[in-house]
Amino acid sequence: MNKRNILTQKLAAAKLGGGQHRIDAQHTKKKLTARERLDLLLDRNSFEEIGALVKHRSTDFGMEEMHYPGDGVVTGYGTIHGRLVYVFSQDFTVFGGSLSETHAEKICKIMDMAMRNGAPVIGLNDSGGARIQEGVVSLGGYADIFYRNTLASGVIPQLSAIMGPCAGGAVYSPAITDFILMVEDTSYMFVTGPNVVKTVTNEEVSSEDLGGASVHSEKSGVAHLTAANDLEAIEDIKTLLSYMPQNCEEKAPRIAYELGDEIRHELEKIVPDSANQPYDMRDVIQGIIDRESFFEIHTNFAPNIVVGFARLAGRSIGIIANQPAYLAGVLDVQSSQKGARFVRFCDCFNIPLLVLEDVPGFLPGTDQEWNAIITNGAKLLYAFSEATVPRITVITRKAYGGAYDVMNSKHIGADLNFAWPSAEIAVMGAKGAAEIIFKGEISAAADPAAALLEKEKEYAEIFANPYRAAERGFVDEVILPEETRVKLIKAYAMLENKVATLPKKKHGNIPL
Ligand code: HXC
Repeated sequence: MNKRNILTQKLAAAKLGGGQHRIDAQHTKKKLTARERLDLLLDRNSFEEIGALVKHRSTDFGMEEMHYPGDGVVTGYGTIHGRLVYVFSQDFTVFGGSLSETHAEKICKIMDMAMRNGAPVIGLNDSGGARIQEGVVSLGGYADIFYRNTLASGVIPQLSAIMGPCAGGAVYSPAITDFILMVEDTSYMFVTGPNVVKTVTNEEVSSEDLGGASVHSEKSGVAHLTAANDLEAIEDIKTLLSYMPQNCEEKAPRIAYELGDEIRHELEKIVPDSANQPYDMRDVIQGIIDRESFFEIHTNFAPNIVVGFARLAGRSIGIIANQPAYLAGVLDVQSSQKGARFVRFCDCFNIPLLVLEDVPGFLPGTDQEWNAIITNGAKLLYAFSEATVPRITVITRKAYGGAYDVMNSKHIGADLNFAWPSAEIAVMGAKGAAEIIFKGEISAAADPAAALLEKEKEYAEIFANPYRAAERGFVDEVILPEETRVKLIKAYAMLENKVATLPKKKHGNIPL
């Protein structure tokens, strides 16, 4: 055979992965193959493969006879919307996408290149875990990846899509990356599978109920996004990337935007007159941002806080917003974790923050205290406090108690703090406050209920407004809802070249 034919033959073998029957099996499971996924993810003809001819070095259990060029993972680089990315896509048709020493080396190689050249890494995971025939060598390969995930954290964006099994220690690579996307019905993640669970705890549970997409997007919060199928997951990755810079030294791409009349009258009537009536903070978000630009993260996890990316006059921003429509927007363990993680991502990658605040405080109760609301609430406080990106808060209604401090107050370094006329900035709601400070007077009154109402009114008149805070400068400006968008556009332009540094240290010690 001539030399050109040898190459052609080897590359053709690599392209076929574990063979047509296994490709068909993959399709039967409603899953695309590793290469089909990359074709959809990357710009046309942009993919350059690295390591297509890599072979494993294993000789136990007859492995010397079983070789598939590429060894179960397709790696390389390409572009998405013209921007460089590094990719690995595990090939379930080759030994179930299991991770061998050489499979791991291929992933590490592209991660090292991504770090040197400052571009995101996207991992498409579909794997049966450690290559069982290789034993500890495979475990070492995983650790080599985990180590690189950690070193790359905060340097380049790392995105993980789970498009099949991801079990055992293998879950810890995605867990260290910035975002996890899961495909409904075909993907699952767990540290120990249903069989081990049954043996150890006698609990019967399916893979889906233990670690499927809905479990991780609603209960554990492990998954940031879920998609109905591979195609949607890939589209989500592209959208997500569009809000991010290539690395921590750069700013996110800005979309050209021509300023027009930026007054948004729909914002005027969203906040109800009564302090206890719910409304959907997403309506406020939509009223402020560029049309159709909101990309929500963690939608179904801790819905009392809403986080996501959006654009404002073409600039990428990260939004953290209390959600009065769910649990009155209270801060609890999960919403604090959700908010903190998102704030830290944005801060790593120079994405300005916008906080929309309507928060009655922290959720009381044994459940919260025993699950460390102290430590978890501190995460959010810490994350805001150390963020050096431009930071703006808009108080739409309640800013009560400790939550006022935590939600990006001026005191912890916010650049600008706006409040709507409907804002109430106080230690607590007027009723609770009146009950405590006028307790004696109220109980001695001929009509205690009427006395409470009167004292409540008195307290509300003094504190249930934004003016005390504005007089102190804790609120920079009280603004009308409809002018919020234009105020924010100007403010972020003003903060464009903000320079803020933290005290010299090895690293802080965030309360984990
Ligand atoms: C080698 C594997 C493999 C593995 C699957 N295969 N997992 N080969 N090592 N870990 C092979 C199968 O032999 C089969 O080969 C092909 O992949 C497809 O597997 P099937 O079982 O036929 O597919 P399916 O029914 O879809 O089941 C998928 C699966 C199951 C649920 C992933 O294969 C499975 O349970 N695998 C073992 C999972 C596991 O215990 N891994 C180790 C976890 S511990 P053929 O030739 O028939 O196509 C771990 C530690 C990491 O990962 C530690 C990091 C710190």
